[in-house]
Amino acid sequence: MSDKNTVETSEAEIAVHWKEEEYYYPSPGFIAQANLTDESVFDRFSLENFPDYYTEFAELLTWYKYWDEVLDTSDAPCWKWFRGGQLNASYNCIDRHLAKNRNKTAIHFVPELEDEPVHHMTYQELYVRVNEFAALLKETAGLKRGDRVTIHMPMSAELPITMLACARLGVIHSVVFGGFSSSACADRVVDSNSRVLITMDAYYRAGKLLNHKAVDDEACELAEKDGQKVDKMLVWQRYPGKMSSDAPLVEGRDVVVNDELKKYYGARVEPEKMLSEEPLFLMYTSGTTGKPKGAQHGTGGYLAYVTAMSKYIQDIHPEDVYWCMADIGWITGHSFIVYGPLALCASTVIYEGVPTYPDAGRSWRIAQDLGVNIFHTAPTAIRALRKVGPDEPAKYDFHFKHMTTVGEPIEPEVWKWYEKEVGKGKAVIVDTYWQTETGGFLCSTVPGLQPMKPGSAGPGVPGIHPIIFDEDGNEIIKGAGKAGNICIQNPWPGCFQTIWGNRQRFVDTYFGMYNKDPNSKDWRDWPYLTGDAAVMSEDGYVRVLGRIDDVINVSGHRLGTKEIESAALTVPEVAEAAVVPVNHEVKGKEPELYVSLKPGYEASPELVQKVADAITFEIGKIAKCRNVWIVPDMPKTRSGKIMRRVLGAISNKGDVGNVMTLANPEIVEEIQKMVG
Ligand code: WTA
Repeated sequence: MSDKNTVETSEAEIAVHWKEEEYYYPSPGFIAQANLTDESVFDRFSLENFPDYYTEFAELLTWYKYWDEVLDTSDAPCWKWFRGGQLNASYNCIDRHLAKNRNKTAIHFVPELEDEPVHHMTYQELYVRVNEFAALLKETAGLKRGDRVTIHMPMSAELPITMLACARLGVIHSVVFGGFSSSACADRVVDSNSRVLITMDAYYRAGKLLNHKAVDDEACELAEKDGQKVDKMLVWQRYPGKMSSDAPLVEGRDVVVNDELKKYYGARVEPEKMLSEEPLFLMYTSGTTGKPKGAQHGTGGYLAYVTAMSKYIQDIHPEDVYWCMADIGWITGHSFIVYGPLALCASTVIYEGVPTYPDAGRSWRIAQDLGVNIFHTAPTAIRALRKVGPDEPAKYDFHFKHMTTVGEPIEPEVWKWYEKEVGKGKAVIVDTYWQTETGGFLCSTVPGLQPMKPGSAGPGVPGIHPIIFDEDGNEIIKGAGKAGNICIQNPWPGCFQTIWGNRQRFVDTYFGMYNKDPNSKDWRDWPYLTGDAAVMSEDGYVRVLGRIDDVINVSGHRLGTKEIESAALTVPEVAEAAVVPVNHEVKGKEPELYVSLKPGYEASPELVQKVADAITFEIGKIAKCRNVWIVPDMPKTRSGKIMRRVLGAISNKGDVGNVMTLANPEIVEEIQKMVG
C-alpha cells in the first residue's frame, strides 16, 4: 500500500480512546432466545481446527452436490472454498423456503412517500417475479452463466429481484450505488464489460422525484466512448409516464421491463447448478488509486459466510422482522439486506428513502408499523437521528431486541444514546467491523455470549483470527496499548476471490506486505491485510482507528482520495489536487480539497464551482467536498511530495508540527490564513 504503511495515530490519541473500558451485558431474555450460546464454538473454531470448522457454515445452505475439498489452496492466495460443491444462491434464498413459508413476507418495501402503500412481498411472489425476470434476462437480453451485468438502481423491491434473477442464471451482477454519477457508472460498465445495464426510471429522495434513467443514458454514452457498448438497457418503471418525456427510450437499445415481462408471465427458470467457486457478484470499491476495483465474490463461500453471520451475529430467526437501513448498492446491503436474511427465510425491510424524511420520527414509525425487532445501521445515521430528534424514539411503540452498527468507528457517547434511547435499554448491540472485500464480519461480539464494550468492535467472530502487526511484521501483543496494522491470520469463506481482471493488484494490496514466500501454498504464509489501524486490548477486543491508506470513510461510505483528486484534475486549469479528511459531527469524516492552478490562471469563485461540479460529475454527490481551497502552492517535501498530513492538520485546526524541513515552509502559514 504505497509508502503510507505507517500508523499515524499518536500515542496520546490512543490513550484518550482507551479511557472507555465499560462492559454492557445482554439480558437473560435475549440469551434465552439467541441462536448461539454454546461457548464451545470458540474451541471448535480454533486455528488448529482450521479450515474444517467452516463446514458448519456451509451446512446452513442447501447443496446440489457437496464439496470435494473444504479449502483449495493450490492457487494461493486466491482461495477456493468448498471446491467442487454445487449450489444456487437464488434457490437458497427463495425456492427452499416455499414448502413451509410460501405465504410469509420476504420483503417489506417501504416507499419514501408515506401515502404510497407498503408492499409486503411473500416468498411466493418473490419466487414468481424472480423466475419471470430471469426468463426475460435469458430470452430478451440473451444473458447466460458467467456474463456480467451492471445494475444501477435505487432502493426498491425490484433491485433484489434483479440480483436474484441474475444469481438464478449464474450471471454475475455488479450493482452500482444508485447515487453514483453517470461517469462512475460508466467506469464500472467498462471495467466489467457489461453489455447489459439494468436501471429504473425514477425514485424519490428527500421528497423529490429524480430522473434516474437520464443518468444511465449518459452512462451508456460515456461507456461507449470508452470502448464498451451497452446493447440493451432494461428499464424498470416505477412511475410510468412521469419521466418518459425527459428520458425517451432509445430504439433498439431500451426495453421497458414492465411491458416486456408480459411475455414471460408464468415462466419458470431452473436455477443453474453453480460451482461453489464460481463468482456470484462484483462490488466496486475505493482503493489507493483513482480507479475503483471490482471485488469478486464467489458463490458457496460467500453465501455460507453471510448466512452464518446473519444467524449467529445478527441473531436472525425466521420469525424476526429485520431492518438493515443501508443501501443495497453497498456491500452491507448485499450481505445483510439481501443474501443473509433471505437465506434464513427472514422478513427483510427495504426502505427507499432518507431516514429523516419527512421528519425525525420516520425511521421509528417504520419500525413501529412493521414490528421491526432487529435493526442494523451505521454510526452516521445514528448521529443524524440523534441530532435531529434525540427524544423521538421514545414517542413510538417499537421494541428492538438486537441492533447493529457498521462501517465506521462509533463514539462511546453515541453508542450509549443508541443503547438507551433506541434500544430502550433492552437491546443488545453488535459493532461489526468488516469490509467490502471481506463479504461479512471480521470482528464483533457474539451477542448471546460476549459482553459489549462501547467504542470497540469486539474480538474476531468465531473462525476469524485477527492479529496486529507492526510495520516489520512483528506481532503487537494484546494489551500493549499500541496501534498497528490489523490482519487476519486465516482465510475465511466470505473473503473476496480476487480483483476483477487484476489478480496482481489483489495479491499486492492485500497480501504483499506480510507474505514471506510468494510461492507458498500454505495459508499460514498469507495473512490478509485489512488496511486499517487498530489496537487490541487485553480482552482481545479490537478498536478500529481508521484507514492506513488513501481511503476516507464519509458517512460510512468508502471514498478514495485519489478518485476525488483525479476528478479535480479533469478541470483543465487545475495543476495539482490533494484531498484530506476533516472531522464532521454527523458524517464522521468529510473530504476537503486543496488545488493549485497551472501558471496563468487566477483563483475565482467560478473556478471553485467548476471543480466542485467536476467531482459531482465524475463520482456523485456523495463525494462533495466541504471546501475547495485554491492555494498558491502545495506544502511539499524537498523531493516534491505533497504533504497531505500538513494540509490535514490545517483543515482540522490541529498542530501542523515542524514544517521547517519542507521545501516551502512559508506556504503553510499562508494557507492557514486562508482557511481561517
Ligand atoms: C471501516 C463496510 C470501525 C474500516 C462494511 C474498513 C469500520 C472500512 C467498521 C470498510 C467498524 C467498517 N468500526 N471502522 N465497525 N466497519 N469500518 O468496504 O475502515 O465500505 O476498512 O465496508 O470501513 O468499508 P466498506
